[in-house]
Amino acid sequence: MVNINEVRLLSLPKILDERGNLSFMQNQDQVPFDIERVYWIYDVPGGEKRGGHAYKELKEVIVALSGSFDLVVDDGYAQKTISLNRSYNAVYLPNGVWRQLENFSTNALCLVMASAAYDEHDYIRDYQQYKNINR
Ligand code: TYD
Repeated sequence: MVNINEVRLLSLPKILDERGNLSFMQNQDQVPFDIERVYWIYDVPGGEKRGGHAYKELKEVIVALSGSFDLVVDDGYAQKTISLNRSYNAVYLPNGVWRQLENFSTNALCLVMASAAYDEHDYIRDYQQYKNINR
């Protein structure tokens, strides 16, 4: 059982510099797991949605490296929308949260740090099935 209150906003370090700013995240520090995989979502046509599933075991940290999008998280009881539009803000998603990405701006770049390699068996893609498991 997971609760959407376990979804955490992470304020990443921001090294201000007149040559340009720098932010970072690293294992077990800003990221509360060891990063095993990185993937990114880009060139999303206007109005499209991504995600729309939960993971049984996978944990993720999501950041809007450029542009903006909304992350909608749901635990089967309550829903919360988190707007990401700064490259120094990230969201930690524990396993078991239903999540969807939507409202992508032009040129939005969504970077995802994940705790394990890709495994289709770890996905729950049916919302009704998800609710039965998480309730
Ligand atoms: P999926 O996670 O279903 O994307 P979304 O939930 O945003 O629609 O992934 C889409 C496809 O990409 C799916 O066929 C699996 C493949 N994929 C990989 O091969 N490796 C990965 O790391 C990810 C995230 C997806």
